Amino acid sequence: MATEENQSESRLSSATSYAFPLKDIPRLSCNDRKALEMIRKSEPVILTDTNLVASALHWSLDYLADHIGDGNFTVYKSDSHKFKYYSDKKCKMVKEFRPPTVQMEMKFKDFAALLKRKQKERDCSEKIYLQQALNDSVEKTIVYDFVNFNWAWLTEQQTLNNWGPLTSNLLLVGMEGNVTPVHYDEQENFFAQIYGHKRFKLFHPDQYKNLYPYPVYHPHDRQSQVNLDCPDFDKFPNARNLTGYQGIVGPGDVLYIPMYWWHEVESLKDKGETISVNFWYMSRSVDKVEHPLSAQQKMAMTRNIEKMILQALDDPEEVPSFMQMLVLGRYT
Ligand code: FUM
Ligand code: FE
Repeated sequence: MATEENQSESRLSSATSYAFPLKDIPRLSCNDRKALEMIRKSEPVILTDTNLVASALHWSLDYLADHIGDGNFTVYKSDSHKFKYYSDKKCKMVKEFRPPTVQMEMKFKDFAALLKRKQKERDCSEKIYLQQALNDSVEKTIVYDFVNFNWAWLTEQQTLNNWGPLTSNLLLVGMEGNVTPVHYDEQENFFAQIYGHKRFKLFHPDQYKNLYPYPVYHPHDRQSQVNLDCPDFDKFPNARNLTGYQGIVGPGDVLYIPMYWWHEVESLKDKGETISVNFWYMSRSVDKVEHPLSAQQKMAMTRNIEKMILQALDDPEEVPSFMQMLVLGRYT
């Protein structure tokens, strides 16, 4: 992606002013030793020259509509530009929870037609976002492009970094302005951009206390409670200390998002829609634990302890007083 696109970022972005200091995510060729070193150290980097999805750079909404086949695709519908993930399984845990998006199943052709209609009518009231794991229901032209992804480079990275198996490839087709709010994933991610541009905001795992994740039993587990566009500093005072990184990815770019790094993603105003595929890998295996623990390891530990306490008490309402009893006046 050319640098002038970075410069015209404000034209592309639908976001208003941004309250937190953000440094640029380094942008390096995958042949640069520094890039490999960053992946090894679990630091985000935008990689060029990977050719990871070179075989898919001709994909567009029309091309996919014509070639991807008649399988069912998961499409989310939102009343706003935000698509905050929630776990279906955890909805029953919070009685008053109202899902912020509606999940639908549709054929790709119907999704493409609906998206075009919304673009034509400039219908901003409701947005849609297709998010579907690529599976063997796709037709052979797409399978051919998929088989020709640069699997050799991926496997080399997987081996070099001691990662576990590839778990899934998610195809994302979004409308301009769509935002996936800030959250973290429990897997390593190579995020490959195919069509249009996306802007990423990334935050180190040590920003945990500034981002106030929902409790693990909540349907919004792994999501931050802080609205980055308009933070409620009275409710979340540490959000004032938030610092992070930003970068724009365009066709052919691959962003490495290390496990437990927080990220918010916006589809920019550019081509009307965006197409991306991500490659999720199980985390690296650790032979020997070294101290001090990394921020990632502490996040994993926090999750496990929280889950264990919740399971033992069997009532989320008992958690705060239990935790306080454990700590207040003893460790404080
Ligand atoms: O909207 C997105 O592209 C989100 C990607 C991710 O969270 O990995
Ligand atoms: Fe994510």
